Amino acid sequence: MAKFLVQKSGPLSGEVTISGSKNAVLPILAATLLTKEECVIKDVPALRDVDVMCRLLNSLGAEVDLDFDSNTVKVKASSELNSEAPYDLVKMMRASILVLGALLIRQGHALIHLPGGCAIGERPIELHLKGLRALGATIDEKLLSHGIVDARADKLVGSDIYLDFPSVGATEVIMMAASLAEGTTVIENAAQEPEIVDLATFLNKMGARIKGAGTDTVKIEGVSEFKGVSHHVIPDRIEAGTFMVAAAITGGQVLIKNMVPNHLKAVIAKLRECGIEITMEDDGVVVKGNPETLVSTDIKTLPYPGFPTDMQSPFMALLTIAKGPSVVIETVFENRFMHVGEFNRMGANIKTEGKAAIIPGNKQLQGAQVVATDLRAGAAVVLAGLVAEGTTEVSQIYHIDRGYENFTEKLRSLGANIMRIEE
Ligand code: EPZ
Repeated sequence: MAKFLVQKSGPLSGEVTISGSKNAVLPILAATLLTKEECVIKDVPALRDVDVMCRLLNSLGAEVDLDFDSNTVKVKASSELNSEAPYDLVKMMRASILVLGALLIRQGHALIHLPGGCAIGERPIELHLKGLRALGATIDEKLLSHGIVDARADKLVGSDIYLDFPSVGATEVIMMAASLAEGTTVIENAAQEPEIVDLATFLNKMGARIKGAGTDTVKIEGVSEFKGVSHHVIPDRIEAGTFMVAAAITGGQVLIKNMVPNHLKAVIAKLRECGIEITMEDDGVVVKGNPETLVSTDIKTLPYPGFPTDMQSPFMALLTIAKGPSVVIETVFENRFMHVGEFNRMGANIKTEGKAAIIPGNKQLQGAQVVATDLRAGAAVVLAGLVAEGTTEVSQIYHIDRGYENFTEKLRSLGANIMRIEE
């Protein structure tokens, strides 16, 4: 198993270019099943999850040409597809559920074994299924009780759908299915993340008629067929936020290129509350930290445009050394404090109570042996290792490989003292 060795590092400096968004490219790849023509996706990040999604598309019968060297994927789902997603791939990545809507509308049938819960929560999909039932799908209830989604639909007809929670995945699955359904679908209380907008942009290029993506009400007028298109994926806002915190926590100055500041308003606002200088330049965003003026703030994660849950653990690394106490409230996932135990091994002395974590701050962290408990928590303990005395050994780093392209190379180019050890 590989691991990272992280040493205390001086202030990071230099520039880093952000890769394409994992959480945008995964639904877009699923959506390529909606046409028999070739789609070309560019700015695809070289990530384990992208590789798994491409293997899944291939196993369903699509021709897939993944070239990480050029960050490009070509998909052509021209032949008859298989309706069943193989469990050995689905168990590697819960985002496999994103093919559900596309498979159903294309084949009239989709069978997907659900992966179990994960470190951050139980990850139910009842809202995805509520939407597909509203469009006319039938779901085998007996199989569902055994964790298997077996959905059938001779045809899908547009409907009004209210999401009890603005689920990103449910919004994406329903958008894909509704885009080729008969009639109009309106999704109320839809997720508003930038990745939803990027998917809608891709679908509209293919011929869909989607309005309101990025707001809480998305209107989809079904059309009869899609054409193949090419598309550049938006930058990864969570990778960008992670590198902003890397600059802040080390008191460095870093130019972050290829990021969209508008996608990170809440994170930028909170970093500024901590005394971090953030300036928008023509070629990117400059983040300047200063240990002397690093003060604490409180965080509450919320669906977009609120503070993103995926930035909760990286930001908490910063709060462990900020002057003054802070409270972090995680409202999106029910169990996303697994990283607290890892920070505490480094001396952070954080206490959790239900959805809240209380961070005393003012700590000089000590290097320790820690694990990556999910992909964002893995990045977070690396950030903490950059300012901890001594060596921090991070294991289970396959989590990090899922979501951060060239993570050690990018950090090392900024002066971080981090090594990857293959055991
Ligand atoms: C997406 O997951 C992202 N993954 C997650 O990023 C991200 O944390 C999450 O959105 C929230 O922003 C991808 O886009 C591939 P949700 P998703 O459905 O779609 C509950 C990362 O680190 N819920 O919005 O699974 C659910 O339990 C990953 O890149 C229901 O209750 O998120 C959770 O508590 C981690 N019922 C909350 O909603 C449902 O039917 C958010 O889930 C669906 C969801």
